[in-house]
Amino acid sequence: MCGIVAYLGPKSVDSVLLVGLTRLEYRGYDSAGIAVLDNGEITVRKEKGKIKDLEDLLLTHPVEGTIGIGHTRWATHGEPNRQNAHPHVDNHGKVAVVHNGIIENHHTIRQELIEKGHVFHSETDTEVIPHLFEDYYKKHKDSAKALQETIARLDGRYAFVVLVEQEPDRLYFARSGSPLVYGRGRGESFLASDVSAIVPAAKEHLHIDNDQWGWITKDSLELRSKTGEAVPFEMSRTQIDVKALDRAGYDHFMLKEIHEQPGIVRRIIQSRMDDEGIVRFPEMNLPNDFLNRVTRCMITSAGTSWHAGIVGKFYLEQFARLSTEVDISSEFRYRNPIADGETLVMAISQSGETADTLAGIHQAKAKFCRVLSFVNVTTSSIARESNAFIDLMAGPEIGVASTKAYTAQLMNLLFYALFTAGIKWLVSKEEREQILHEIRLLPEKMEQILARADEIKKWASELRDSKDFVFLGRSFNHPTALEGALKLKEIAYVHASGYAGGEFKHGPIALISDQMPVICIAPQCDLYEKMVSNIEEVRSRKGRIISIYTEGDTIVPSKSDYSFAIPQCADYLTPILTVLPLQLFAYYSALERGCEPDQPRNLAKSVTVE
Ligand code: G6P
Repeated sequence: MCGIVAYLGPKSVDSVLLVGLTRLEYRGYDSAGIAVLDNGEITVRKEKGKIKDLEDLLLTHPVEGTIGIGHTRWATHGEPNRQNAHPHVDNHGKVAVVHNGIIENHHTIRQELIEKGHVFHSETDTEVIPHLFEDYYKKHKDSAKALQETIARLDGRYAFVVLVEQEPDRLYFARSGSPLVYGRGRGESFLASDVSAIVPAAKEHLHIDNDQWGWITKDSLELRSKTGEAVPFEMSRTQIDVKALDRAGYDHFMLKEIHEQPGIVRRIIQSRMDDEGIVRFPEMNLPNDFLNRVTRCMITSAGTSWHAGIVGKFYLEQFARLSTEVDISSEFRYRNPIADGETLVMAISQSGETADTLAGIHQAKAKFCRVLSFVNVTTSSIARESNAFIDLMAGPEIGVASTKAYTAQLMNLLFYALFTAGIKWLVSKEEREQILHEIRLLPEKMEQILARADEIKKWASELRDSKDFVFLGRSFNHPTALEGALKLKEIAYVHASGYAGGEFKHGPIALISDQMPVICIAPQCDLYEKMVSNIEEVRSRKGRIISIYTEGDTIVPSKSDYSFAIPQCADYLTPILTVLPLQLFAYYSALERGCEPDQPRNLAKSVTVE
């Protein structure tokens, strides 16, 4: 959360920073700001609200320059207002800083600096950085030394960039925990939280590692280790398709990403399965003999990725016969789980930067477990700190509420379970062929569902005044119920709870009245009859039934106020289909209720703080 971008080169820095910040807005959007060296002086412009508000401010209060830093904020310390927005400056306005992360010992440092006469203007933890830097700069008259001493004082996670008025041709940076990437174009250099902010100009890039710091000029990078030694590095060619960062004619990224899902699933099938139907993960460098020895899996993930993990548990148990636990990352990291060398810890994360998931990986490695991560960003911290990773292949996901990454997670987890089943000889050739045949039909079935988006739009309109929703599902579709409810909460701000159908009568049933819509995910698969009983229970209490059922079934629609059919498919594939109408329902409900689906309030896409 929070996005930073910095530029040094021939272009007008304000426009480069604005483009970069717009691309990073998914990381936070409650306030934004830039600091530019304008006629030899640091000039700061910041505003509460979105990048558009900063842009408007710059129209009335323009800046000129070719070196500067920018920030889009998701508040942790101090409410979102102009004062707390970054960049923050030192006492004399000669040092400006943008920061992503949390400085845990900021109270102590602030107190110490106040005693020395420093005056603070915000409630943020970040503000201690420019003040500390100023203090050490006074002592050394050398920015590199000042930076190194500053870093030595900071506890917590950070990626920050420093603009120093006396140095018009350099920007200083440091990283510990939060992501930071250096990019180089033709006679220009960039720093950013994410490479998407600096394409296509940055032809080459390098992910700065933890505990590295240094400085950039318009055509060079100096990289230092914690102890100050020069670190050799090799740049990688940047290969992001800028078109993937566009809305491509859709009103919102979320809608575009929902509709991208059949194509992504097709791509995953093509790359995970060869012509013989053998499943492969070329990027996963875990030896088969280790995978064969694995007796237990522990999945750790957050939000939507946690829901994917629950489906993953079904896949691993059903196909690979591996006993599997799933835990929310923020719990897993603190619960001292029992694990050994034969436990495989699996971390699932779209961004690859979720702080709690990353901390769980550190925990697992400390217990000598190997960690396999499922990530959509293969250069992310989680990918790099795991023993091996699997690329989700969903392409950049910009909408804050995860959609396409979820179905990509399900597909890759399914393939992983089949892969493991293959090396353990658990499925026969005939079974495998049947499974793979079913999988191949999936993209077309997804397309059929998405082509009927208007039916869901109508539900959203007719149910626009409902204040609470219950989602029920069982087995493979219990996580779908959780995910459907999460989507609705996240982007339409409607209270919704997801439950396992069997748990319904143990409390939630008390909520049912004629005011309460209940979304029942009841495809014709295992526990179908049990879901029908749940529907009856709701009906007899006058609840309104909205059902997702299988084409050809006449029972569920006859008992429902609204119903939507999905094509027939194998049980284990139903969650990949049933989630689609629920994603659409959340999207259209958000529009109906005047909410902004791509930038829901209080949320950030990449949660890099605890
Ligand atoms: C945030 C996002 C969610 C996401 C969760 C986990 O809360 O808003 O959409 O599911 O983080 O993120 P990850 O990147 O680890 O999958």
